Amino acid sequence: MEQRNRGKEAEKLKLLKISPWSVSCEDGSQETLDFRESVFSQGNGYMGVRGYPPEGEKKHGFERSTFLSGFFEYIKPGTTDMVNQPDFSVFRLVLNGRELRECTCTGFCEELDFRNGALTRRYVASDAEGRRTRVETVRFLSMADVHAAGVRIRLTPENYDGEVTLTAGIDGGVVNLPISDDQLTQNVEVAQLWGRITLRPAVKGGGLTALTDYSKRAVSMEYRLDDHGGNYAWEPAFADSFAGEKAVIPVHEGQAVTVDKLVAVYSYRDGASPAEAALAAADACAQRGFDGMLKDTASAWNAIWQAADVELDAPDEWQGGVRYNIFQLVQTDPRSDPHASIGARGLMHGRYKGCYFWDTEIFMLPLFLHTDPQAAKNLLLYRYHTLEDAVKSARGFSLPGARYPWMASDTGFEQCGTWDTGCCEIHITADIAYAVGRYLEVTGDDDFFRDCAAEILIQTARYWTERFTYDEASDRYNLLFVKGPDEYCGVTTNNLYTVWLASENLRLARDAVARMKKEYPREWESLRERLDFHEEEAAAWEDRMRKSVRRYDEERRLWIQDDTFEKLEPLNPADYKEDDIPLYHKISYDRLQRYQVLKQADVLMLMAMRPKDFTPEQKRTAWNYYEPKTLHDSTLSFGIHALMAAQVGRTEEASRYFEKSLFLDLRDVMKNTAREGIHTAALGATWQALVFGFAGLWADADGVSCTPQLPREISGMRFGFQYRGERYRVQIDGKRAQVERLGR
Ligand code: BGC
Repeated sequence: MEQRNRGKEAEKLKLLKISPWSVSCEDGSQETLDFRESVFSQGNGYMGVRGYPPEGEKKHGFERSTFLSGFFEYIKPGTTDMVNQPDFSVFRLVLNGRELRECTCTGFCEELDFRNGALTRRYVASDAEGRRTRVETVRFLSMADVHAAGVRIRLTPENYDGEVTLTAGIDGGVVNLPISDDQLTQNVEVAQLWGRITLRPAVKGGGLTALTDYSKRAVSMEYRLDDHGGNYAWEPAFADSFAGEKAVIPVHEGQAVTVDKLVAVYSYRDGASPAEAALAAADACAQRGFDGMLKDTASAWNAIWQAADVELDAPDEWQGGVRYNIFQLVQTDPRSDPHASIGARGLMHGRYKGCYFWDTEIFMLPLFLHTDPQAAKNLLLYRYHTLEDAVKSARGFSLPGARYPWMASDTGFEQCGTWDTGCCEIHITADIAYAVGRYLEVTGDDDFFRDCAAEILIQTARYWTERFTYDEASDRYNLLFVKGPDEYCGVTTNNLYTVWLASENLRLARDAVARMKKEYPREWESLRERLDFHEEEAAAWEDRMRKSVRRYDEERRLWIQDDTFEKLEPLNPADYKEDDIPLYHKISYDRLQRYQVLKQADVLMLMAMRPKDFTPEQKRTAWNYYEPKTLHDSTLSFGIHALMAAQVGRTEEASRYFEKSLFLDLRDVMKNTAREGIHTAALGATWQALVFGFAGLWADADGVSCTPQLPREISGMRFGFQYRGERYRVQIDGKRAQVERLGR
């Protein structure tokens, strides 16, 4: 039995071919479809589609998912879901009167190319009469114009003359699969969020405008067909919510028929007339044509890779895996949109209702901070734009200042329905302040400091002022009723991670006030007045910074996670965990709260984020103590452990953890990629393990340092990064690192 399982696992590892610039697969079976749809997800930051085949029938309206960044709708008062958008990819195909599903497919291959983001699928469809048709589809979402996409279908009869019936258009018949934020609930119901859909017919083109039922939020999609001079007899094919057309196309042995669908997408988020904008953009796409658009996309990707690539002297699989992680993170980041962020599954799956977590600021943002600071700024601007909601939210919790939600969508109001996480995992507020601080020290962006950061820091600091509870007997401040990153710690007191970062938040606010007074007295006067700031507030921050409780055991040189951690019941993970599937599938989530095990890095997480606050000895002691107790039941855990293992000189373990993070989705390490999509925080953690861990890069107000700690599998690496408006290039050869300043 065990032997058989191992055989199956080995099969899974071989399913994908990971090459330096692409991932491909030769298994076209139904059993692997959901998994392949996840790993072959495509995006351009504005929109994202799962890697489903454009041609063929849909299984369910929710499975062919297309999402738009920041496009949410209410599913009940106060609670939103990311809306599954009309399907613009679809082509329906009938070969000589036979549906595609009646044919046998051989020679299957699909490939996702990181250089232009195109997903190409090829196979031969054979019918019962032995007629063989070569089918090829290519889909890309433009990186040059994020409102545009192209889908191509090419059909070549191999051994017959006959006819194919092709239907092309846009399908508004989609629904949502609302997925609870409780990790254990499997959803079974679907929700229809779309209301009125208006179809627009035209020859070799058309489109639709759909309005969500509740808030009347509009999306307009417009397509143009290019049949490469075939001039086929296209006839309108309108049904229910489908806007499209159909042609019966005569085909001849060995001669390819190619049809391109060029699509433009605009929504209510882009201005008052998405339909007009989509119409104009679709015409522009038609002018440029599929090949031209694909070329533009490749150039845009080329520019991204110039800044973000990490070249390795390592096995091809590692190189390809690293590029895959960067590629997926970049293509799901709403780069130029300061009103949206990146969900825990990006635009690749509706899990967690598309919500944004600390995952963005702590796991994903560092990649952008060092490779595309404007994109990093936009992620922080999203938080600035939802600051007012966070202020109202704090008031709802009877507290001053701003309280950011554990889960956020298009507003800054709490979307988390699980009470202990939603109410107690308050480190998110300090995480955002930390990210603001990191952004400022790495970029030196004075405008952002003056116009946005100072206000975020002051408002969040005000929240902590009252969130700490004063204990007169000890003259100390406790942080009660709190949950750290380790979600298996119960609801506890003085979680070190949260206390540390909350104090950092207070320090950043104190320094921001001082700097505003000195450098921007006029702007400070108006901010002070607007926020009704009083000098005593800074003194209160100082008091909490100095007197907050942080537990350190001098004798053991050990930082303790929280006040109750050492009272929990010991459990040996090895007795229960045989693989990487989360233990909450075996032991109840509630029961896990009372075992002395960690779901994911907590004290080690803090040490990874504040490397200079801890001595090498403290880091080693923390590693020895916490690592054996950690279950890695969150995908956020592996990459951070790889980073910390590299820092404490455990190269073997670093490489073992790195592989898990690197191939987390590509090898379906936690067995949830198919049903949940790509884990975006892990993509960012992989990058951090590589750059902060293996390359040992660190940049802050003191400057840049680089102390490599390469694992056996990597003998050298090269990458670029940005610091204070200048570009740098790092070249590592074994233990030797060279950091070259290239200028602006
Ligand atoms: C993790 C959280 C994370 C969330 C979304 C949970 O399983 O424990 O830290 O923010 O998933 O990725």
